[in-house]
This record gives sequence, structure tokens and C-alpha cells, in this order.
Amino acid sequence: QSKSELLTRTDKDPKAYKTEYQQWEDDQMGKIKSQVKQPDRVQQDDYEYVFDETQAIKWVSDGKVDMEKQRLQQMLDESEMKAKTIEETRKSLPVYKYKDQLLEAIKAHQVLIVIGETGSGKTTQIPHYVLLDDEITKGLKVACTQPRRVAAISVAQRVAEEMGERVGKTCGYMVRFEEKTSPDTKILYCTDGLLLRILIQDPELSEYGLIMIDEAHERTLSTDILMGMLKEIILIRPDLKVIISSATITAQSFSQFLYNCPLFSIPGRSYPVEVMYSREPESNYLSAALTTIWQVHIATEIHPSSPSDILVFLTGEEEILAAQASLEETAKKLGNRVPPLEIRPLYSALPSEDQQRIFLPASVGTRKCILSTNLAETSLTIDGVTVVIDTGYEKQNSYDGKMGLSTLTVVPCSRASANQRAGRAGRNRPGRAYRLFTRFAFNNELPEQATPEIMRQNLLSTTLLLKSLGVHDLINFNFMDPPPTTSLIKSLELLYGLGCLDSTGALTRHGRKLSELPIDPLLGKAILAASDSGCSEEVVKIIAMLGETHALFLRPKDKRMEADNARRIFTSNEGGDFMSQLNVYSQAEESDFDVLWAKQNFLQSRSLNRARDVRDQLEKLLDRIEVEHSSCGISDHVAIRKALTAGLFPNAARLQRDGQSYRTLTGSLTVFIHPSSVLSQLAQKPKWVIYYELVASSKEYMRNVMPIEPEWLVELAPHYHKADAIAKLGVDKKMGKGPGKVGIDR
Ligand code: CDP
Ligand code: MG
Repeated sequence: QSKSELLTRTDKDPKAYKTEYQQWEDDQMGKIKSQVKQPDRVQQDDYEYVFDETQAIKWVSDGKVDMEKQRLQQMLDESEMKAKTIEETRKSLPVYKYKDQLLEAIKAHQVLIVIGETGSGKTTQIPHYVLLDDEITKGLKVACTQPRRVAAISVAQRVAEEMGERVGKTCGYMVRFEEKTSPDTKILYCTDGLLLRILIQDPELSEYGLIMIDEAHERTLSTDILMGMLKEIILIRPDLKVIISSATITAQSFSQFLYNCPLFSIPGRSYPVEVMYSREPESNYLSAALTTIWQVHIATEIHPSSPSDILVFLTGEEEILAAQASLEETAKKLGNRVPPLEIRPLYSALPSEDQQRIFLPASVGTRKCILSTNLAETSLTIDGVTVVIDTGYEKQNSYDGKMGLSTLTVVPCSRASANQRAGRAGRNRPGRAYRLFTRFAFNNELPEQATPEIMRQNLLSTTLLLKSLGVHDLINFNFMDPPPTTSLIKSLELLYGLGCLDSTGALTRHGRKLSELPIDPLLGKAILAASDSGCSEEVVKIIAMLGETHALFLRPKDKRMEADNARRIFTSNEGGDFMSQLNVYSQAEESDFDVLWAKQNFLQSRSLNRARDVRDQLEKLLDRIEVEHSSCGISDHVAIRKALTAGLFPNAARLQRDGQSYRTLTGSLTVFIHPSSVLSQLAQKPKWVIYYELVASSKEYMRNVMPIEPEWLVELAPHYHKADAIAKLGVDKKMGKGPGKVGIDR
């Protein structure tokens, strides 16, 4: 029974129908879940893949492409593929022909929506054009926002190169924890979240003459908030120009939102793409993707002057690295029976140095195979791709306000995304897109559009940010799509619990400080608590490590024992993952972040360096908001753990009778300790824990877990955790004796 059949049936009583529909949805979820190999379970070493030509995937074409026309077009465009100078490339972009018209339109209208296919030159060219025409900005700066930091950095580098300068001079970038600008900077590429932070300091954007909100169709949380803020700002600043740019037609709704402003469409030039569906559903999309890569690579000849590179859409860094390792291994085994395949990973945490490498053409006689997250969907254009392999999945954030459960899960991407992805194969010449799902799945199982992030996100940071931007009436803010009111109210309550708002809903001094920190308010709160109790430096280090825990520990296949032993040196059972991370950081620091030391200890030195940079940035920010530094050394566990608890108290869980599972205090969800946690190996699990995040895969797992004493919850968050409620959950009689006795580490 299909969904539409179910939805259109009217013969039953609504109750029975509802149950049936729910059942249907659960079944679907079950199916989808079982098809998804969760990235957090894919380990470089346990992912074993053997390429076997006899297991080739069978394809069906959607048959829409006229192959004869395709061949003709290809011949016509062969000349296009010759190597070009930067200037020639710029002139060959579709936007170039419309430069004058575009500039006229910008002058004539305060707000303009620009639509153009990915690769038409919107992001790299428009700010540059505007800068050269001083009538528009009148000497003020141009800011262009990107939903993703990699895109902001990479595009800024490209534009600087086009200007013949190094990045950070006339053209710079700013992303969280990283910045390259100078007093001369006139074009600033930044993340949408960062522009919101600029707004806190400069509510009228007085330094800017033009703001370009790029990739607006992605509808990230920050982009949505920016749109709401800009709607007001343009009324106060009649001289401020705004461009909203989007790769898709859904831009219509932006126009309605922004006083019916005009649309400027750049006619694209793309080639036909033949879409291939897998005949059977694939149970493991990763191995299906690997098989397809080899299948295509072996079957397609490498032409010396016209690249036929492969672009594969996967869901995340770990998965991409696992795929890369597997491809490299298979390539080694196949030896010179196949032409060389150059693997280039692309994901948001990729170090800036490696990013530009993705755009370099493959060496002669080899094929480039880019393994990317949905970053390459619209944010970055890579020339030379003629084959796209689409797993049909992406990682998506979602948040269940009732449970307090925020998860990053692999979900089927939308049909709009799948079409964008396929389009990447036809930028320079006709191409092919291999979809690792059936045509039926495409039509029936993929959602039409992704839900805007604001509808499925934890709004805690956003609520705090809006408050600090002076938006008091959140419910009536200019949202393009308003988030659920309950989730706004929940966030306000929690902000009150964190001491960020007073009982009238106004921002407190404490709240103002937290809003200046570009991190989760819960973590920010932990830092402030740590500053008061003399251990801010330690807590900052732990927080800096939190972003790196996914790929920190290496476990090469042939050295698992040694790797596990090395890891044990850092492990603290009593202090859980947080204290273990502090141990890693402190020892890395002692080694002066030595690459060799990291290698000997089976640690990813890239992760350690990133953590160090984040720590340095955080310390600078703390200086700015006048939070006192303090250090207690790594041995004072209790002070550090209590400071962390003072922030992460909403994420508390208690061990259940079975001795394995936990129940969260908010939302009463049954959860488990993630296998990657140092606590997962313990036979005797700690009774009470706090965690940093919940991930849902085969079960709901807590990731980054630390044992606590239940009394701390009452002591540190009396608004949130009531003594009698905690006592009822089975704490010993000690409870409620006042703060004097609590916090003694047993
Ligand atoms: O924003 P839109 O998708 O319209 O295009 P763009 O990002 O401005 O890219 C236009 C062209 O610039 C691409 O097709 C690439 O040829 C080139 N580009 C590059 O070589 N390196 C980058 N980092 C970014 C763009
Ligand atoms: Mg762009």
C-alpha cells in the first residue's frame, strides 16, 4: 500500500486510519533505518569492502536524454574544455554577459533576488562586479554569506586569486574561529551565522553597503534569521543594498517575504544529464557507491583533453574517509590493470590548505574522483565532472523539543537535492548521474523539499541571539516560516534556567556574555561557571576537544591492540570522556603538538591542531567579554566536572535497573552509552551521568559522557532539578542536606 493510497482513502473511520497510517510510517522508518549504515558506526578499520566485478550493479535509465543530441552537443563543446586562464574563465561564466544589466538592476532596487544555476558565477563574480562600481556601495564593504564555512573560505581564496592578491587583503573571509581580513578588506565572505554575530556589534550594518545572502534556498537557520533581520534593517538604511541569491526557483517565496522585490534570473547553460536508477534497492549505499565508482571508472575511457571526473555524494567526513581508504586499498590491489584514480575528499572540516586542491584538474591520464558531502551540491562547483554518483542520503540535524533530543542522523535527501546533485554532472558537457536508489524510491520515498532548518532545530542559541539583537517579542518576529511556538517557549525557559534571562524575559549581564560566545549556550555556561570556580582554562580545553572527538583516535587495522593500549593512557573512568579529552589535550600541549608524538599515540594530529586553534580563539573571546581566566590543573576533577555540570545539567541521565541503559531526566528517553565512549567498556556503569549529545542510530546513544553526583544537579541548577524529584529517583538519604555536604567526590 502506498502512502498516497493511504492518504486518499476515506472509507474508514479516522481513528483506525490514523493508526494504520502511523503503522505505515513506522514501517517506512524501519525500512529506511535498516538501509542506512550509520556513519558513526563506520570505522575506517571495520569497513571491509572487496571489489568484485561480478557483483556489478544493474541500472535502468530514465531514458529522457536524446543520446544523438547529446553527442552532437559534446562535439560542439569540445573546444570549451581547453585550459583557460583565470580571465578567460571569468569571461566564460554565464553571469558575465549580464554584468551591466545586473548592476543596473542593483542600482534601481534596494533588494534583488538573483537566480542562476550552480556554477553561473553568482558567488565569485557579483561581489567583485559591485566593488568595481563605486556607485553602489559608496566606499562601504560588501559582505556575502555562505551557509558553510568551507564555501566561504574557498570562494574568498578564489576571488582573491582572481584579483591577483592573497586572501585577506581586499577580499577576505570570516568564519567561526577563523578569520583572514585586513583594514583594506572590501569584500568579506562569511558564514551566515557569522553575519548574525556582526549584527550584535553593529545592528545597522553601518560598515556595509551591500549584503548578499547566498545559497538562500538552503534555508539554514541563520539565513532565515538574517532574512527576518534584514527585512527591518533595510527600512532604517535606505542606502543598504541586499541581494538574495539562490540556485533554485523556490526563490519566489523570498520575493514575497521581502516586499515583493524583483527577481533577476541568469540564464544557465547546462548540458543534458542521463539519470540512471539502480534496478534493485541497495541495502548498503556505501558499498554500492564504491562498486559504482569502479564500474564507471573501468568502463569509461580517460580522454587526454576532456576530463570525465566522478563526483560522489556521501553523508559525512568519517564515511568519506572510510570510502577513501577502501578505494585506495582496492586501487593497490588492482594495480596497473586499471588507470589511476585520484581520490579527493571534500567535507566541511577539511583543512583550508587542502580545499583548493579539489579544484585542481587531475593529472594527465588519471581520473579525479571527488568524495563529497552535500557541500558540492550547490555551494562549490567543481569543473570537469561528468559522472555523479548519488547515494540519496544526507546528514540532517533534527530536534525533538519534547524529548530534548537533538540528533544528527542520516536521512534520505529531498528530490530537489537529488536533482541538484544530478545537475552537477552536466556543467561542462553532457553527463550521467547514477542514483543508488530505485526510480520508485525517488518518486515515493524522497521528500519533495527539505524542511527549513528552523522547523527542526534546537532554538536555544537562536533565541539567545535574537534576545541579544534586541528582539523581545520572539513569537511575533518576522520569520519566513515561524518555528513551533512550543519550541521557542522551551528555549526561553531554558535560557531562564541558565540565568540568561530575568523573570521579565530581559537579557541579563550573564546572558549578554553568553550571547557573545559562538558556542552552544550550555557550553558557554559551563565556561562561566568554571571561571567562577577557578578552572576555566581546563573547561575551555575540553570544549575545544568536543568538536574533534569523532576522528581523534586512530585505529589502524594491523595495530588495533597498540592503538587501544595507547588510548588507555588517557582514559579516566571517573572523569569519563570529558576528563579523558582533557588528558589528551594536556599531553598534546606538553609535546608542543608534535606530529610524531600524535602518531605514536594513535591520535589524529589534524584534530589536535584544530582543537588548539579553537581553544586559542575561545580564550581571546573570553578576554573580550571580560571573563577571568583561571586554572586548577588537571588533577582537580571535582571542580572541573562540577563546572561542566553547571552547563550541561539539562542533559542528565540515570542508570536503570538493567545496569546498561539510562533514562534521561528531560524527556524520559531510554539511552545508552555510545561505544566510542571510554565508559562503554566499564562493567559497572556510573549511576548518574551528563552527556554532550545524543545520537540516534540503531539505538539512542549518549556521546561524550561524564559521571556526576546527583546532588550537583540540585546544587547547580535548582530551577531545573528539584531535590525531591531527584531524591525520588532513588538517591540515598543524603539529599537535601543543603549545599554544605554535596559535591564530595566519593
Ligand atoms: O555561485 P555560482 O554557483 O553561481 O558560481 P561560482 O561559485 O561563482 O563559481 C563559478 C566558477 O568559478 C566555477 O565554475 C569555477 O570554475 C570557478 N571557481 C573556482 O575555480 N574555484 C573556487 N574555489 C570557486 C569557483
Ligand atoms: Mg554559489
